[in-house]
Amino acid sequence: MTASLDEIAYKMCAGGKGILAADESSSTIKKRFDAIGVESTFENRRDYREMLFRTDEAMKDYISGVILFDETIRQNAKDGTPLVKLIEAAGSIPGIKVDAGAKPQAGCPGETITEGLDGLGGRLKEYYDLGARFAKWRAVIDIGPHIPSYASIIANAQALARYAALCQEAKIVPIVEPEVLMDGAHDIDRCYEVTEWVLKEVFQQLFYARIRLEGMVLKPNMVVPGKKAPKQASVQEVAEKTIRCLKNCVPSAVPGVAFLSGGQSDEEATAHLDAMIKIGGLPWNLTFSYGRALQAAPQKAWSGKPENWAAGQAAFNHRAKMNYLAALGKWTPEVEQKKAA
Ligand code: 13P
Repeated sequence: MTASLDEIAYKMCAGGKGILAADESSSTIKKRFDAIGVESTFENRRDYREMLFRTDEAMKDYISGVILFDETIRQNAKDGTPLVKLIEAAGSIPGIKVDAGAKPQAGCPGETITEGLDGLGGRLKEYYDLGARFAKWRAVIDIGPHIPSYASIIANAQALARYAALCQEAKIVPIVEPEVLMDGAHDIDRCYEVTEWVLKEVFQQLFYARIRLEGMVLKPNMVVPGKKAPKQASVQEVAEKTIRCLKNCVPSAVPGVAFLSGGQSDEEATAHLDAMIKIGGLPWNLTFSYGRALQAAPQKAWSGKPENWAAGQAAFNHRAKMNYLAALGKWTPEVEQKKAA
């Protein structure tokens, strides 16, 4: 029997498990590999991702699903097993990034519109046959002196809604990701204001597009000050403002909210999630869908050397476990220090 959209969406965010965002595009993974002195070849990308997907404890106990890039969903492990099968064998769900990236938006200097809707229905059918049961589309909203504009927010919200409708028609759960970037010098309240505006518009467009909220997952940013802001915020302030913003915007029919890490340090991303769960009384399951905050440590430990395979897996396992504990509200700085053996 095939699981329904609602069941898959629920499973993606329940019980402390979260999503591994391993869907870096060719240019992004090259950037990550450059940072650890590894050439971005087809084989190196395969070896690295195979190392993650074969991390037994993490994949079975902490990771509910993995977002893949087009190359990876078609790729085999060194022994010929499709990488998708490794994910499935661990009881985790394979997913696929389907947007074609954020491109400069005409008439909106400094802003982007995410492309990739043309032909998406056909591509989703193929991805379903390859094993994908959920998808991801990322809209990017930057904060600056005169941005974001309504023109950019509404265009991105409509694209997210059209993508989500195509996914649900193809029996694929859409992860709806409107990311408000934390690159600027703005304060936390400006991030709150923009995030609230973006989420309001996104849910309005999801309604117009007749999206079944029970069969989707929201992937938002947390409410944080810009990286260049003169004043940073405490963990508690981030947690309280993020929850307040989400409660004001996200209907309780949505089964799961899985955050992106967006450039926060590994430990910040974990501590923020943990503090939000500790606030309690939330209508949705709250968890992680981290890229950098799950992978920076294993990338460094591995550094492209086969002899570092076990160290890379230990680093990945530790971060996955810390975020799992955070999603249950059971993380502490002490348990963070108990590095994986
Ligand atoms: P980060 O956690 O590195 O922000 O990546 C998550 C993601 O999938 C961005 O689209």
